[in-house]
Amino acid sequence: MKDKIINSFNSELKELIDDIVIKDKKIFVTLKAQNPHQAKKLDSLKKECEKNISNFNLFEEINITFTATKKKFSKVIVVSSCKGGVGKSTLSVNLALSLKKIGKKVGLLDGDLYGPSIPKLLNINTKPDVNDKKKIIPISHSGIEVMSIGFLIDQKKPLVWRGPMLQSAILQLINDVAWNYLDYLIIDFPPGTGDTQLTIMQKIQIDHALIVTTPQEIALADTRKGINMFNRFKVPIAGIVENMSYFVCNNCGTKHFLFGENGGEKLSKEFDIKLLGKIPFHSTIARNCDAGTPELIHKNSELSKIYLELSKSLIKQ
Ligand SMILES: Nc1ncnc2c1ncn2[C@@H]1O[C@H](COP(=O)(O)OP(=O)(O)O)[C@@H](O)[C@H]1O
Ligand SMILES: [Mg+2]
Repeated sequence: MKDKIINSFNSELKELIDDIVIKDKKIFVTLKAQNPHQAKKLDSLKKECEKNISNFNLFEEINITFTATKKKFSKVIVVSSCKGGVGKSTLSVNLALSLKKIGKKVGLLDGDLYGPSIPKLLNINTKPDVNDKKKIIPISHSGIEVMSIGFLIDQKKPLVWRGPMLQSAILQLINDVAWNYLDYLIIDFPPGTGDTQLTIMQKIQIDHALIVTTPQEIALADTRKGINMFNRFKVPIAGIVENMSYFVCNNCGTKHFLFGENGGEKLSKEFDIKLLGKIPFHSTIARNCDAGTPELIHKNSELSKIYLELSKSLIKQ
């Protein structure tokens, strides 16, 4: 069926096809948009594609999306770990704030469709507007462009996504959002190695993955799976960040290694990946993330320095 559909396209359209997925009575087409000159023509080609497919009278739903144009984002960084609760979303937000502080144009995309946490972390309760080209305008927060599925849905209701819906939703969050030109698009990658992760890796040119782990063995075991996944898809890994590494006692200043010591180093040696930084377990981080005021974390000079150094070593990659 796919071949029949492709054969119905003219040569220009054929060249643009990145992928076609047919599921039940739905079809998902991904078109490539790799240069700005092409981009201008794309809307008419998209319509043409839709018309051709609807002529087959086979599909109840036709979804056509574009793969991200590389030009929109100078660097795409995914913050990942296979494990939940290690601090991916917290790091994504703080990294975005820190890169902004250095003067970079930054976007933050919540890649977690089942459990979006960026709206809560940034205390964003508004719904985004749509521009005259029907693209969603990302929410601007502390000078960062932010997008999350949580802005568009009722977060109290559980989400039931099917594979192709996930695929098109995540791509739409990239392609159907009016991102401005960004130096860095930070994607808070969902935990696990499922459909969403694979779609992001297949369809988006990721420059670097940043691997977050906590020091304990159970987190390292899951993080290994994440590293292997990126290696399999040949996504370059910028480095490992050990989160909740240690706790400094307010009274005596002693460093306590609550979850064991040197877990990050162990992974770093095992996979020959740089250990880019260690972030302490700090009540200022937990408190401000819960309150939706992560920008206040950066008023703490010690923490601000840690995030800034991390950002600088990421920029050097
Ligand atoms: N370095 C840290 N110090 C203290 N609390 C942290 C730190 N990093 C994350 N947290 C807290 O841990 C919890 C889980 O973090 P989160 O970023 O949501 O994890 P993930 O996105 O990996 O599931 C949150 O309540 C967050 O505030
Ligand atoms: Mg998260």
